[in-house]
Amino acid sequence: MDNIIFEKKINQYIDYINNRLSEILSIEYPEKIYEAMRYSVFAGGKRLRPILTLMSCEMLGGSKEEAVDFACSLEMIHTYSLIHDDLPAMDNDDFRRGAPTCHKKFDEATAILAGDALLNKAYEIMVDNVILKRKKKFQKAMKYISDAAGVKGMIGGQVIDVMSEGKKIDLDILLYIHKHKTAALIIAPLKAGGIIGGMSDEEIKLMEKVGENIGIAFQIKDDILDVTSTTEILGKPVFSDKRNDKITYVTMFGIEKAEKDLKILTDEALEIIDGFGERSEFLYEYIKRLVSRVK
Ligand code: IPE
Ligand code: IPE
Ligand code: MG
Ligand code: MG
Ligand code: MG
Repeated sequence: MDNIIFEKKINQYIDYINNRLSEILSIEYPEKIYEAMRYSVFAGGKRLRPILTLMSCEMLGGSKEEAVDFACSLEMIHTYSLIHDDLPAMDNDDFRRGAPTCHKKFDEATAILAGDALLNKAYEIMVDNVILKRKKKFQKAMKYISDAAGVKGMIGGQVIDVMSEGKKIDLDILLYIHKHKTAALIIAPLKAGGIIGGMSDEEIKLMEKVGENIGIAFQIKDDILDVTSTTEILGKPVFSDKRNDKITYVTMFGIEKAEKDLKILTDEALEIIDGFGERSEFLYEYIKRLVSRVK
């Protein structure tokens, strides 16, 4: 696909998501917490998770208006996970999305509360939708997202990630970390968007496989960029994993195998997406470009 057409489409998605996020996070009393929430949400970010939600919803003809609140909830949950991930008690990083991290810009208490507030806001928005729209598909979307955010998902991965610092871990543990801390919040958008867009149980299963593959691949690439990129390009510190004594896919297998495996995982996902036919074109192109992303 032509790069200009593709970029234009992605920017339309991003504008659409950002407009809704801005409405959801409109400033009220106490202003300070809204400022901190907005600071981290609007610092930048690729908007991967909400874009996947909308693309998956549209793949079988669903309308993105129905899925946008769930897309925004996923971005708020993701941003909260980043704010907390950067805290001194976790990865202790000073930059995120090209700007000082939330606890550096404000203070630790504000960063903890801004993260909590974003997580809670995500649920407030989803519950509003579930109550108002009274359709099973919205309940299912919320279930996918809440499971993925919790101990069975992202938090479980973060726990093992932190507990494994300075330890020798094997591939099973490393894959547990990748699947939970990262893939869970990439599977959930594909499933939540898909169910809202009208996918069958079988199609949802296929999206789960797509999400698991690109989620693991996404974290492998993140680990590669941690040692090959620059802070200017990434917008977050390089060598964070080494500083925290973390075993990554790169330290376990080297960059060459990491690159090879992430490509294999992505190709498998692309094959499944291709099976969805013509409407899957944008999702196909989006996933294809994740392999060569520079940030
Ligand atoms: C960073 O996520 C954390 C990981 C799971 C690797 P992203 O790379 O999607 O970060 P943003 O949203 O673009 O800032
Ligand atoms: C964190 O993984 C994934 C989250 C759930 C936030 P990393 O710690 O590798 O993410 P970055 O590199 O700080 O973005
Ligand atoms: Mg981390
Ligand atoms: Mg980190
Ligand atoms: Mg990282």
